[in-house]
Amino acid sequence: MTASTPDAWARVDDFLADLFVGEDRDLDRALAAQHAAGLPEIEVAPVAGKLLQLLVRISGARRVLEIGTLGGYSTIQLARAVGPGGHVVTVEAEADNAAVARSSIDAAGVGERVDIRIGRGEDVLPTLVDEDPFDLVFIDADKESNTLYLDWAARLGRTGTVVVLDNIGRDGEITNADTTDTKVQGTIAALRMLAEDPRFDATAMQTVGLKGWDGFALARITRS
Ligand code: DHB
Ligand code: MG
Repeated sequence: MTASTPDAWARVDDFLADLFVGEDRDLDRALAAQHAAGLPEIEVAPVAGKLLQLLVRISGARRVLEIGTLGGYSTIQLARAVGPGGHVVTVEAEADNAAVARSSIDAAGVGERVDIRIGRGEDVLPTLVDEDPFDLVFIDADKESNTLYLDWAARLGRTGTVVVLDNIGRDGEITNADTTDTKVQGTIAALRMLAEDPRFDATAMQTVGLKGWDGFALARITRS
């Protein structure tokens, strides 16, 4: 039997990505641009990007909110999934990241579906209250602000809105109540909020793969 090691997890992720994602010129170009610009290599794994696309399509989401654009790798996938006439608003704190993302999103041919709002979530999200509610919210930004982002997801969503929160595994550290890692603290707080706040009906899955030992939380907004 193959030993369960980070190498094996990555090998299996590659195998699955070959099957379910394959070669993708626009996504490969977006990753190359992101790396060339020196952005961190923390985009979603290819199979996770495909999962996001499926969640958008399964839920029939037409308006998607992404918090944390980075180089636009997941944004392109969300924009593809909403289809023509669909809309993605993506919030990015770093103007340099947003510039890389803009160019990659446009090059992927989905530019007109994507609105990049530059600024910190706490400043940008309140400006979205007068827009139509979002059907799906993908949270993948600074983990310290996860509970703030969940609160805004509930406010900017509607009953039935799908919420996906990235990176809940944190190499297993989420069971360490004494952790001094602020990203882990922000993740634990978010998981508690998803469990206890009546606006969410949620679960979370740990994953292994290209990105090591990680995971995501999935929620449905029950009321906002
Ligand atoms: C981190 C952030 C991410 O969005 C991710 O997918 C992996 C790691 C981080 O900040 O540690
Ligand atoms: Mg992430």
